[in-house]
Amino acid sequence: MIAAGLARWALLGAALTAAAQGVASAADAPASPITIELGRRLFYDADLSINGTMACATCHEQHRGFADGNRTHPGALDHPGKRNVPGLQNVAQLHHFTWASRATTDLEHQAETPLLGQRPIEMGMTEAVLAPRLKASACYTKMFAAAFPEKNGEISLTTATQALASFERTLVSYEAPYDQAKRGGAPLSAEAEAGRAIFDGKGGCRVCHSGDNFTDDAFHALEPAAAGDRGLADETGRAEDSGLFRTPGLRNVALTAPYFHDGKAPTLAEALRRHGLALSEAETGALAAFLESLTDRSFLADPRFSLPDAACPL
Ligand code: HEC
Ligand code: HEC
Repeated sequence: MIAAGLARWALLGAALTAAAQGVASAADAPASPITIELGRRLFYDADLSINGTMACATCHEQHRGFADGNRTHPGALDHPGKRNVPGLQNVAQLHHFTWASRATTDLEHQAETPLLGQRPIEMGMTEAVLAPRLKASACYTKMFAAAFPEKNGEISLTTATQALASFERTLVSYEAPYDQAKRGGAPLSAEAEAGRAIFDGKGGCRVCHSGDNFTDDAFHALEPAAAGDRGLADETGRAEDSGLFRTPGLRNVALTAPYFHDGKAPTLAEALRRHGLALSEAETGALAAFLESLTDRSFLADPRFSLPDAACPL
């Protein structure tokens, strides 16, 4: 059983090497299957929060493309969340992480924000608590040893976030009806096809929602900044960055209501209205049908990304 599990990861590792190459920094060796499996275990482990109540997966739910269904999600100590939880499919293709940051440009450092961040407090963890807690687990001791032989199995914030990032790089989703139609498979419905034409054409959506992941990975202001969240200006302190948010990717977007950085748009139709575009009801309906064709059911149910077995794989 254990061997079969690892064989599965070996296959995945080989398939992903190419996808990861474009984004991994020069220092990043391709992750081994056991590093990815360790990252998955950490991602689903509530012991990564200070009081054992909250895992990464508490906010990032696989069946919603690793987003959730809330406007914002309170942290482990019940501090209110600041922003809507984004999905994580194809996250390794991005260069700017979160809704409004130029500074967070790799997944390893991004993971420190939910773990240790104070504004808002999400998992409420500290480095001083994290390492001893993981070291107390016989399973983690074996897994870190197998994942990081060159570091003598070091169990630390650095290796934990490295494993988490390795798992996140495997979250690849390109099997939606949209992708299949593009590759010559079953065509989209007439309504979704009409929506695609508006999206690529007169709707102008592609200007910002560009590329395979429907984002230019750049910052735009669709509305004036609200008092509690000035977008990129909260990081840079520059008035001209006020109200700027990164264009979100749109894969699996039909499952991640409510929308926008503040979760204020309860439906896709409302998210489109908030762009200030003059769209007829029929156009809005067609665009929504197109956006639904970006839902990748195989990704949402892929056992490689789901809660791991409680039994230690080693
Ligand atoms: C309390 C809910 C919560 C928890 C727990 C949480 N996240 Fe998040 N995550 C968010 C929110 C909200 C954002 C967007 C933050 C922002 O834009 O300021 C986010 C953003 C991200 C992003 C950036 C995605 C993108 O599109 O740029 C990644 C990657 C991520 N989280 C990974 C993780 C990992 C790994 C963990 C566990 C160590 C984790 N998250 C735990 C709520 C959470
Ligand atoms: C000028 C760039 C730009 C254009 C053009 C644009 N968008 Fe957006 N879109 C954004 C940004 C930026 C956000 C996030 C805004 C925020 O949270 O404040 C967004 C958010 C969205 C969301 C919500 C996603 C989520 O996860 O919350 C959807 C759906 C969406 N856009 C669809 C479209 C469609 C369809 C069109 C064409 C009719 C379009 N957009 C045109 C930049 C753009």
